[in-house]
Amino acid sequence: YIKQMYMTPPPPPKKACPNNIRKRIVKSSFKDKFLETIPVLQWSNHATEGEYNRLKNYAGAFGWQNVDFDTIKESLNLLNSSANSQMFDDWDQRPNKMNSCICCAVVGNGGILNDSQMGREINQHDYVFRANGAVVKGFEKDIGNRTSFYIFSTNTMRNSMASYRGVGFLGPPQSKETRYIFLPDHDRDYLLAKAAILNIPIDRGRDKSNNPPTFFGERVGREKFKVFHPDFIRYLRNRFLWARILNSKHRDIYRPSTGAVMLLAAIHTCDEVSAYGFMTPDYTKYSDHYFDKKFHKVVFYSNHDYRLEMQLWHDLHKAGIIRLYQGRGNN
Ligand SMILES: *[C@@H]1O[C@H](CO)[C@@H](O)[C@H](O)[C@H]1NC(C)=O
Ligand SMILES: *[C@@H]1O[C@H](CO)[C@@H](O)[C@H](O)[C@H]1NC(C)=O
Ligand SMILES: *[C@@H]1O[C@H](CO)[C@@H](O)[C@H](O)[C@H]1NC(C)=O
Repeated sequence: YIKQMYMTPPPPPKKACPNNIRKRIVKSSFKDKFLETIPVLQWSNHATEGEYNRLKNYAGAFGWQNVDFDTIKESLNLLNSSANSQMFDDWDQRPNKMNSCICCAVVGNGGILNDSQMGREINQHDYVFRANGAVVKGFEKDIGNRTSFYIFSTNTMRNSMASYRGVGFLGPPQSKETRYIFLPDHDRDYLLAKAAILNIPIDRGRDKSNNPPTFFGERVGREKFKVFHPDFIRYLRNRFLWARILNSKHRDIYRPSTGAVMLLAAIHTCDEVSAYGFMTPDYTKYSDHYFDKKFHKVVFYSNHDYRLEMQLWHDLHKAGIIRLYQGRGNN
């Protein structure tokens, strides 16, 4: 027969996951908090003057008040590939894509993971989320070795590199599947994203550098980066993590922790979420981090509200929305 090219059929549509998180949320006591249409990520489409005028009303991670429009534009305009607007941009290339549910492991850095032996279980999820000082080498048995998403702000990443060098945290994990999600709370984030994508030095601000940043590897490309939308962070604060400090004059130092944003982002995008290494009511039994060499008790700072976050994880677990790891023998 004649050799000819035939049109390939479109891929079959992804089967909807039958009883995914979002379907469970709208049947739970969380239904009034949850907004199905909240944007989780921001990208080039959002870099408009109208959006700037709206978002410049909100400071820190909640808007663009501390960032000039040129910086926003130069940075977001680079986020114009389809990978920048979707959480699971590589799903269609995954061997598991015919599964109907996207299962995520969200791994916090809590001491409860020390000697947990959860590494294998964590690795078996479709996507693995980590944040800040998530050192992997040497801890694989307890936390796994894959990182699909690394979540950070420039400030928290740099602080983690300074504080946890001694336990082997030399920078964000790097692998073929790893994507980097900025939680921007300063112009430093937008300036770092631009420099990393273009492979050029950071051209201004307090992180100004002579060389291109190498935190994410060399010439990583725009497809590797995503940036949380300030509306998402403000929505999380307003509806899920409204802390008492917000009613005081110290309100400006508060934001939900990076780990909290990571877990809530997973809840808003994955079909199933298992959370490991998040704080539980028996937290005094465990060191602050799984990677601590010596026991450090958890210290509470007023820029986050870990007790409020702990209560939220507990409530989400009880409502059957997430599965929260609660220590050996407690699951
Ligand atoms: C994204 O913008 C760059 C210029 O910064 C351009 O070369 C590229 O074609 C654009 N990609 C898409 C998918 O529009
Ligand atoms: C994780 O460990 C497995 C088994 O040792 C190995 O095949 C894989 O390459 C590792 N993945 C990463 C990202 O290190
Ligand atoms: C981690 O777990 C081991 C074994 O249970 C224990 O001996 C060690 O003290 C723990 N590390 C910290 C920092 O708590």
